[in-house]
Amino acid sequence: MQIIEEIKKLKKEKNAVILAHCYQPVEIDEVADFVGDSLYLSRMAATTDADIIVFAGVHFMAQSAKLINPDKKVLLPNEKSGCFMADMINVEYLREFKSKYPNIPTVCYINSTAEVKAECDICCTSSNALKIVKSLNSDKVLFLPDTYLGKWVESKLENVEVITYNGFCPTHLKIRPTDIEQARKKYPNAVILAHPECHYEVCKMVDFVGSTKEIMDYVVKSNEKEFVIATEKGVVERLQRDSKINNWGKSFYLIKEDIICQNMKWNTLEDIKYSLENECYEVNVDAEIFDKARQTIERMLEVK
Ligand code: 13P
Ligand code: SF4
Repeated sequence: MQIIEEIKKLKKEKNAVILAHCYQPVEIDEVADFVGDSLYLSRMAATTDADIIVFAGVHFMAQSAKLINPDKKVLLPNEKSGCFMADMINVEYLREFKSKYPNIPTVCYINSTAEVKAECDICCTSSNALKIVKSLNSDKVLFLPDTYLGKWVESKLENVEVITYNGFCPTHLKIRPTDIEQARKKYPNAVILAHPECHYEVCKMVDFVGSTKEIMDYVVKSNEKEFVIATEKGVVERLQRDSKINNWGKSFYLIKEDIICQNMKWNTLEDIKYSLENECYEVNVDAEIFDKARQTIERMLEVK
């Protein structure tokens, strides 16, 4: 496709790197240097020597890349790409939440704004949330904005109370326990995998709970042949593509058809080309909160 060649040429000319989340439209992988989950992409953002980072994902991801790379230009191809969960908490709500539980360490999910990150102790993603909470060595932790990820972490720990803010992901909450029951009946031999943003009743019923990349790694290693995926459609599309290319002989079924994050689907190849040509839309973070928000992410990246 001509546009793919044009984007690759622009990337070279501008010394740019393209990071793509695995919920993005699948054709974006053709131009991406790295495709994965939030943690993997944050780590890649931390190691790149490109001058420009084009983040094919949602705003908080591009903002996190900017916090890790203050001297680089970070671009979000389509300005509409927000995150409903990240928008459920702001600094005012955060302060109110913290004031109810004073002197307890506060963990923010990476799905939050830089302003919110600046007032938390440490950040986490879905693949390291458990490790991050454990690293605090505290019997109580405040966790925000995702109540379900927080409660899933709590269920994996003994003697740690995870006090959660009441945020959630509308896309993952569409998955109901009855969907899991129906999938078990329809695909009795399938392994069912879910993202921890799903309702905890759903997480309790499935065979594996993990971040998008953990789900993808699990199925690659597994000897099983059928998998039902309870997360955003982009993960299933990538697995189906890779199975075909590599002759895995594995089948993947999305738990139900409408598990789509519209925010993740705004970016197109045309937007990426426009973004590189015009160096837009640049993501910046206010100077007053920059260092504090950055430290919250850096503390996470330091946890081994
Ligand atoms: P991952 O960290 O698993 O990529 O999740 C990000 C996200 O927004 C899931 O809804
Ligand atoms: Fe946000 Fe949910 Fe979309 Fe993830 S899937 S980016 S949490 S709205």
